[in-house]
Amino acid sequence: MKFIKVNNYEEMSAKAAEIIAAQITLKPNCVLGLATGSTPVGIYKNLIEKNKNGVIDFSEVTSVNLDEYIGLTPENDQSYRYFMNNNLFNHVNINKEKTFVPNGMAQDTAKEGADYDARIKALGGIDIQLLGIGLDGHIGFNEPDSCFTKETHEVKLDESTIVANSRFFASIDDVPKSAITMGMGSIMSAKKVLLVANGENKREILEKAFFGPITPEVPASILQLHNDLVVIYSEK
Ligand code: PGA
Repeated sequence: MKFIKVNNYEEMSAKAAEIIAAQITLKPNCVLGLATGSTPVGIYKNLIEKNKNGVIDFSEVTSVNLDEYIGLTPENDQSYRYFMNNNLFNHVNINKEKTFVPNGMAQDTAKEGADYDARIKALGGIDIQLLGIGLDGHIGFNEPDSCFTKETHEVKLDESTIVANSRFFASIDDVPKSAITMGMGSIMSAKKVLLVANGENKREILEKAFFGPITPEVPASILQLHNDLVVIYSEK
């Protein structure tokens, strides 16, 4: 693991964007595993800038996102499909048909999960997976549990996640109670993993996840077993 501590959010965003840009330069038809949440927004801004300046070209890139709320349509401004369109895809020359987000409206979430994993496999796996980390140690929406789940699956969101994410909704009652998330299988199979975290409130969970025991009670701790993991942390 490479743990990089930087001084501020801007530095974290710029450094992470450099790593993703390098991946696109080295393999123009790469598969990017992408994440939502407030932390990656600055990274996406940097990537948009690099695309506009002709430094990187998304035309052959495919992307797969980590997760989606159950019950939100792609048009809902709180859905992760909407977030990705708004924060990245609408502003770069990516082919939208090659951007994948789990379908939160699927009738059969087990089938949606199996199809999602099969798609990632058919794409040849993820070249670089971008991750944030929840205050409870979740990655994607893999919440603390008694075991790690390998497949893309439906999860019931933890109360702490619902509270944390309520800042994006009109009221806490509007936050969906469940989601569909990529499981640990596809995440751990990514060739590189890049986890970003920002803020003093993330320090304790980072210590637990990367310097404590590997346990499904701290889902991100499984990343200690990944052989190409970069963590970029800014306390401020
Ligand atoms: P955040 O979310 O980037 O909004 O802090 C991270 C996460 O929950 O994975």
